[in-house]
Amino acid sequence: MTQHRGASLTLPAVLLLLASSIATNLAAAAAAGICADDNLPANRTYAHCAALGPLGATLHWTYDAKTALLSLAFVAATPVAANGTGGGWVSWALNPTGDGMKGAQALLALRTSAASPYVVNTYNLTGYHALGANSTPIAYKATDLAADESGGKVRLYGTLQLQQGMEVVNHIWNVGSAVTADGAPIKHAFAQENLDAKGRLVLSGSVLDPAPEPSPAPAPSGSTTEPTGEAAATYASAPVLMLVAFAGFLAIA
Ligand SMILES: *[C@@H]1O[C@H](CO)[C@@H](O)[C@H](O)[C@H]1NC(C)=O
Ligand SMILES: *[C@@H]1O[C@H](CO)[C@@H](O)[C@H](O)[C@H]1NC(C)=O
Ligand SMILES: *[C@@H]1O[C@H](CO)[C@@H](O)[C@H](O)[C@H]1NC(C)=O
Repeated sequence: MTQHRGASLTLPAVLLLLASSIATNLAAAAAAGICADDNLPANRTYAHCAALGPLGATLHWTYDAKTALLSLAFVAATPVAANGTGGGWVSWALNPTGDGMKGAQALLALRTSAASPYVVNTYNLTGYHALGANSTPIAYKATDLAADESGGKVRLYGTLQLQQGMEVVNHIWNVGSAVTADGAPIKHAFAQENLDAKGRLVLSGSVLDPAPEPSPAPAPSGSTTEPTGEAAATYASAPVLMLVAFAGFLAIA
């Protein structure tokens, strides 16, 4: 009796663990697939890769903590402009002073038309105003800047000399469909995906969502209800729910 009760109490915990490990593995498998699809040239190999989520971007990187050198390949597709010049840009940036665009130290690959090669500029993003055609100095020495295109995606390469002791940094990325004739990137769209394209990069090998906002003031009592177990479960993805149901069946059988 006691034994039976103990077993039934731990079953939800077991299922939860199982579901979260399945979800983690699914995410890792999806990232591995996306990373392999980038098909980087053989002379460009990196220790880590992560799917960044928004805008379907991926980041491949190697960080040497001794030298503080970060070498990376950022991969994303440029949206197709309605007026179809074939120009476009992709950009990835570190922000040492904030979590948005202001203060970000950006690498940006752009081309003015489908016939021109991609070039890589650096920009010190001082605010939300238009960028010029020329690079501006950034806080980190940038070397090996290059970009190419494969399978409809732009691959931006570079090496940044970071400062010793950096471990987790805010990063932000975006893509745009238009570049002026003289080579200045035109602002990206403001869809949710564009606005969500930021997070934290753990240099030793993973990516995290943006740091949570400071918690809001508590809601007046009675205005919200705690989600029940049932309601919370509806947020799990269908495959996870199916596997949980299957595991539950096994546990009962
Ligand atoms: C990789 O090869 C390409 C093409 O041969 C060359 O342009 C590039 O500089 C090489 N990159 C590295 C990091 O060796
Ligand atoms: C193409 O469209 C974009 C966005 O509407 C616009 O900013 C850009 O100037 C246009 N380019 C040309 C060459 O017409
Ligand atoms: C970037 O811009 C900010 C704001 O104007 C400035 O304080 C900073 O020194 C600039 N960084 C570099 C590397 O020029």
